[in-house]
Amino acid sequence: MYRILSMGALSGVLLLGSGIAQAKLAGDPVAGQKIYQANCLSCHGSEVFTRADRRAKNQRDILVFVQQNCNRAVKKPLNMKDLENVATFLNNKYYKFPN
Ligand code: HEC
Repeated sequence: MYRILSMGALSGVLLLGSGIAQAKLAGDPVAGQKIYQANCLSCHGSEVFTRADRRAKNQRDILVFVQQNCNRAVKKPLNMKDLENVATFLNNKYYKFPN
């Protein structure tokens, strides 16, 4: 029993670490669009979301990428709710990942 539990916990950590976790975003895309327009257009437009070698491979990757990279560069860092809103907007409009 203990063995099974610890295996489960370990694989959860590995999944998160490798970005394979398949959690669907449930943010508000309308709020996300406003956040995007106010905070994100100073460095790039939509070309980074549609380029052939784009980094994000699923919905969660979008959020994690912004959280770990771009969010350090914006004037007022986004909280988790705003990160989810903006990632939901980007997925609905550009990435269109099903999960
Ligand atoms: C200070 C400049 C800067 C700001 C501000 C910025 N970004 Fe970025 N962003 C970048 C750069 C540079 C890249 C490309 C990084 C790379 O190719 O590794 C990038 C890449 C991305 C990507 C990854 C695209 C992909 O899948 O390859 C996403 C998503 C993203 N930005 C979202 C945002 C959002 C949302 C905001 C506003 C909250 C934002 N960025 C603000 C500089 C910025």
